[in-house]
Amino acid sequence: MNPADCATEELAGLTFRQIRTQLARAFEGYCKPLRITEESLDWMLVGQGASLLASRRLLVGGEPAGIALVGIRGRTSRIAGFGVFPEFRGRGIGRWFLERLVQEARDRGESRIWLEVLLENEPAVRLYESAGFRRHRTLAGWIAREFEGVFGRAQEIDLEEAARRIVRVSVPDLPWLISGEAMCHVGGDHEALALGNAVAILRPTESVVQIRGLTVSAAPTLLQQLAEILRHAASRWKGRAWYAAPFFPEELLGATMTQLGFARDLVQGQYVLDLEAGP
Ligand SMILES: CC(C)(COP(=O)(O)OP(=O)(O)OC[C@H]1O[C@@H](n2cnc3c(N)ncnc32)[C@H](O)[C@@H]1OP(=O)(O)O)[C@@H](O)C(=O)NCCC(=O)NCCS
Repeated sequence: MNPADCATEELAGLTFRQIRTQLARAFEGYCKPLRITEESLDWMLVGQGASLLASRRLLVGGEPAGIALVGIRGRTSRIAGFGVFPEFRGRGIGRWFLERLVQEARDRGESRIWLEVLLENEPAVRLYESAGFRRHRTLAGWIAREFEGVFGRAQEIDLEEAARRIVRVSVPDLPWLISGEAMCHVGGDHEALALGNAVAILRPTESVVQIRGLTVSAAPTLLQQLAEILRHAASRWKGRAWYAAPFFPEELLGATMTQLGFARDLVQGQYVLDLEAGP
């Protein structure tokens, strides 16, 4: 790989469809089947706040070779999607691209970069760790065929209010994907249930109830309230399977989810690169 052949450009000049096609190519051969739909790209840009100005297309010898979606909140950024097209992998190009994104974050005066990566995605984990990213915590996904419901005191509340409560009550370092800011953008096919300070944002479909957002903290009362909300929801949506994507801090929610009857599904690392750390 000759670094002189590599360059990046803004995504702002690309159409929505072109960005989707580039992402699909970058995630070919990914460790899990992954379909980039219009809905999922819309969620990356709007819900997860990826910026078209900070996101980059990678060019090698002038040809498109990869893409990175990058979001910015204040002096912090997050890599929301990152990949090199299959025919360009294994030649040091991914490392060049990542180093370039890190340098751009430094140039913008940022203090840290977050990202999440499936722990089974060994090439990506090795790349991030060797570039200095440190595992901040483990994020788990959860599944249940069904679990015991108990009609309880949980009340349905407005989705926007639920999102605000997640911001107020949760630990400050939640992954952006399940942060209150992201939850402000979920659609009307979601419902929010609340009890005390605890909130769950759920998306019920005919067969599965998806857990999209939760107030996440170590406070025992909050965890008990969350468990009561979820039991209440299970009594309402009897016979449905349950699914939570791997975005939920395991050390905070693992025991509660296991007690409810959930099994751990996929596991990710929440990684951070501290740009202000000394050498
Ligand atoms: C992860 C990915 C971006 C790496 O890009 P790449 O251009 O192949 O990476 P490089 O050739 O620059 O290698 C950089 C480092 O990555 C790691 N790596 C790359 N391929 C690897 C493999 N097949 N097995 C183990 N480690 C690997 C190594 O640490 C390597 O450094 P080294 O060569 O000094 O050992 C690429 O595999 C990809 O696009 N995968 C699909 C999308 C994806 O998984 N994105 C990350 C989602 S969070």
